[in-house]
Amino acid sequence: MKPYLRSITRANPYKLCFVCLGNICRSPTVEGLFIHRVREAGLENYFYIDSAGTAAYHVGEGANSKSQATANKHGVHLPSRARKLEYADLEEFDLILAMDSENFQNISQLDRKGKFGDKIKMMRDFDPNPDDGNVPDPYYGGMQGFENVFQILDRSSKELLSELKEYVEK
Ligand code: 4NP
Repeated sequence: MKPYLRSITRANPYKLCFVCLGNICRSPTVEGLFIHRVREAGLENYFYIDSAGTAAYHVGEGANSKSQATANKHGVHLPSRARKLEYADLEEFDLILAMDSENFQNISQLDRKGKFGDKIKMMRDFDPNPDDGNVPDPYYGGMQGFENVFQILDRSSKELLSELKEYVEK
């Protein structure tokens, strides 16, 4: 069994934290998407889903308006408030998903003693078409970039949930 997998029950829900730089575009999008999928599957009591940023620039803000418009177009709501990733998150969550290699590096730096490497993964490890392995930062671009990010995260989160579903014990 992969080290981040375990039996998932109502008493011990699986905890996922999606991480990008600002916590206003990419990670709130996949957080909202994952919440949406888990509800569709009737598994909301088996998962705890959150997101965070490696930087504090936007702490307290809701998701970026272009991320929200894109998600809403696909029937997905983005409930997040930006916060900065903390050391305690590494202890608390079962799986921490970095959007790109810079996020991955920053998360790994927070893991000073290298205790949590098994649960820090790249989101596009779950993408059937991973390209260069990074979810591109859409912040400075137009709507097409946000749609591209949504499609990448839609594919990747589908794969991730289908892997985790196997471990849900009803
Ligand atoms: P995110 O996008 O990491 O997907 O939330 C960004 C948001 C803000 C900034 C950069 C990326 N920024 O530099 O403020």
